Amino acid sequence: MIHKPVLTKEVLEYLDVKPDENIVDGTVGQAGHTLLILEKNKPSGRVLGIDKDAGQIENAQKATSDYKNRVVLINDSYVNIASIIEEEHFRPVNGILLDLGYSSWQLEESGKGFSFAKNEALDMRYSLQNTLTAEVIVNEYPEEKLKNILEEYGEEKFAKQIARKIVEQRKIKKIHSTFELVSIIEMAVPAKFYHERIHRATRTFQALRIAVNDELGNLAAFLPKALSVLAPKGRLVIISFHSLEDRIVKNYFKEKEKEGILHIITKKPILPSGQEVLENPRSRSAKLRAIVKT
Ligand SMILES: C[S@@+](CC[C@H](N)C(=O)[O-])C[C@H]1O[C@@H](n2cnc3c(N)ncnc32)[C@H](O)[C@@H]1O
Repeated sequence: MIHKPVLTKEVLEYLDVKPDENIVDGTVGQAGHTLLILEKNKPSGRVLGIDKDAGQIENAQKATSDYKNRVVLINDSYVNIASIIEEEHFRPVNGILLDLGYSSWQLEESGKGFSFAKNEALDMRYSLQNTLTAEVIVNEYPEEKLKNILEEYGEEKFAKQIARKIVEQRKIKKIHSTFELVSIIEMAVPAKFYHERIHRATRTFQALRIAVNDELGNLAAFLPKALSVLAPKGRLVIISFHSLEDRIVKNYFKEKEKEGILHIITKKPILPSGQEVLENPRSRSAKLRAIVKT
């Protein structure tokens, strides 16, 4: 499945890519944004694409095969941006993009249990080098910790009921698959109490994915490193899909603007147009923030 990149016009506007500039795409995925950047930094600008998921690096290799000598793809975490740039001699860095979260390919085709609509093992790791899986969290975490994860990362109103039911059911039988988890959520939250338009399992699955991959911790660790490798006048553009992610980005940018290190160029977060949300529902919670290094 081809992942439709979000906010493409806005990414190009705020990254403001010029011919021959070097850009880091810290979440290269299927190279949707990277391909657009490669058209802008012609003839000799390069893109360093990083992704934690080895499957996505393969996807990006296929997608960028026409640009081979201008693309470097690395299977690693964007948290390691500084050492990767050092090893690849990728300087100067004129712009950095992060498009957070997971892609449609991971949801539909990776077989890693990201989707509540497919019966797969409860894994949810972007990188198989992680030891923590969704199965470990669901079967081993204490009830209180489970509840907190669902509440905080999933903003799940029924966190308490779902955590309790998980703990009750795992005593009877270990929870291995996505469908087993979905049926436990359905037991915990009867349909008549559920008034949202999204599926009852949506928030639990989101929360588990964020916890398994330490998505908030990674983002917080990435920001100072990104700033340190960016050349003067370099741009950093971040698209987030979760209010906690957006808050981390917003607060960090504000703090560093006060210190005179950067200038925020999006006073308010940039949101997708109504038309984009219609054409690509995944974009509905996207928020883009951007800065220029001073
Ligand atoms: C929304 S997708 C990016 C899609 C991409 N912009 C495109 O147009 O194809 C997010 C990607 O970030 C990757 N990812 C998540 N956490 C990561 C991390 N800490 N380091 C590197 N990549 C990460 C995921 O594997 C996924 O491929």
